[in-house]
Order: sequence, then C-alpha cells, then structure tokens
Amino acid sequence: MRLIFLGSPGAGKGTLAAKAVAILKLPHISTGAIFRAAIAAGNPLGLRVKVVIDEGQLVDDETTVALVRARLAQPDAQKGYILDGFPRTIPQAEALEDFSAVDKVVNFDIPDSTVLERLSGRQICRKCGINYHVIFNKPKKEGICDTCGGAIYIRNDDREAAIIERLEVYREQTAPLIEFYRKKGLLVDVDAQPSVDEVVENFKKAVGICSGMIDRIK
Ligand code: AP5
Repeated sequence: MRLIFLGSPGAGKGTLAAKAVAILKLPHISTGAIFRAAIAAGNPLGLRVKVVIDEGQLVDDETTVALVRARLAQPDAQKGYILDGFPRTIPQAEALEDFSAVDKVVNFDIPDSTVLERLSGRQICRKCGINYHVIFNKPKKEGICDTCGGAIYIRNDDREAAIIERLEVYREQTAPLIEFYRKKGLLVDVDAQPSVDEVVENFKKAVGICSGMIDRIK
C-alpha cells in the first residue's frame, strides 16, 4: 500500500505514522525527518536547508523531489510506504506521478488553534526521533526518551514565529493538494482532533484496514 499523509504542521502525521508502520509493516518516509537528520549530521544537504527549515519555509522542489525519488527506489519501499510530508506543493505532486503511483492520500484535518497547542508543547528525542508533548504525551522521565534513553529537545521551527510562518506556507502551497487529490478520487479525510488512539481508529476506517488484513500483513 502506498500512502501519502497530508495535513497542516502539527496535525499529528508523524505520531500517526509511527502507529501505522507498526500495523502495516511499511517504511515511514518523512522528508522533514530526513532533512533534520542531514542538519544533525552537518552534511552539505543539512547545511543548505537549515536556515530555510528554521524559518518555517519550504525546501526547494528540485532538492526535495530528487531526495524522495532516490528514497522510493530503495528495496524496502517496493512493497509500499507511508510518505509523510511529501508532496507539499503541486509541482512536487506532479513530479511524484512520474516515478510512483499512490493508493490513498490521507488528509489529517485539524483547526489552527489545536496546531498551536500541539506544536508549542512538542518535544522530540534527538536519538530516535519519537515525539512527545509536555501535556498530552509526557516522557516518563523529564528530558529522557522512554524508548531509547536519548535526550529530548525542542525543534527550532517550533518557535511561535516559525509555527505561524509554517501555517501560512501550508495554506498557500500545500492545502491546494487536498483538491488536487480529491479530484483524482484518492483523498480520504481523517478527523485528527481527538486522542491518538481515536485518530488511529479513524485512520483504519478511512483506509479500510480491518483485522483480517492486518493478519495477512503479519
Ligand atoms: P515536517 O517534519 O514534515 O513538519 P510538518 O509538516 O510541519 O509536520 P510536523 O512534524 O510539525 O507535525 P506532524 O503533523 O508530524 O505532528 P506530530 O505528529 O509531530 O517538515 C519540517 C520542515 O522540513 C518543513 O517546514 C520544511 O521546511 C521541510 N520540508 C519537509 N518536507 C518538505 C517538502 N516536501 N518540501 C519542502 N520542504 C519540506 O504531532 C505534533 C505534536 O502533537 C506532538 O507533540 C505530538 O505528541 C502531539 N500529538 C499528535 N497527535 C496528537 C493527538 N491526537 N492528541 C494530542 N496530541 C497529539
């Protein structure tokens, strides 16, 4: 199954993707996570995209499309994937059509007020990338990841000014993808407002995942 996760910053795409990969046994390909890993490694890609990302702008289409094209050519992506954060512009979506078909585009629907609440409290593990929240999803021990013991940090682009910029960019450049994919009959809407467990159930219904299907995947 080839899935795209679409939705505003902080809609919960990464959180849900972590749950969905455990169910579907597919690779989770997050362009944001790939860029953050490049920044942490201090490699040429990371040095080039750091300022753009910290300010809440989008990395250019050419760089992003080349990165995703190479990633989807890897053996683990041949049986399917969850693509989180790509495409984010109409040119990226058109480019994707040249190298991969898509089965469903999941649109995580959430109001801006909830986005601000979620992103202003988000914390991330520097080592494994799992995310937490100061109110909704606290680590057992403050500052330490429950899963790998890594240190927890706050993303530079989760500052208020960058969050507001990211929402603007989302409205202008990414939201048009909702109609783009709806017209192609690929879009399914998921209410991303309730608790994580409820969003997982909404997702399973929207994508048509039943227990028989999970057994076959296992
Ligand atoms: P990216 O990492 O993709 O950021 P984003 O789309 O802004 O999404 P987020 O990671 O902020 O949010 P999310 O929806 O995954 O929410 P999360 O699950 O963490 O991209 C970062 C940057 O990279 C971009 O701004 C851009 O510069 C660049 N980039 C990436 N892709 C690109 C592309 N294709 N083209 C160009 N540039 C690109 O949840 C948020 C918080 O809420 C967490 O604390 C979580 O614990 C909590 N939470 C989640 N779900 C729930 C729930 N149901 N109830 C309560 N709390 C919840």
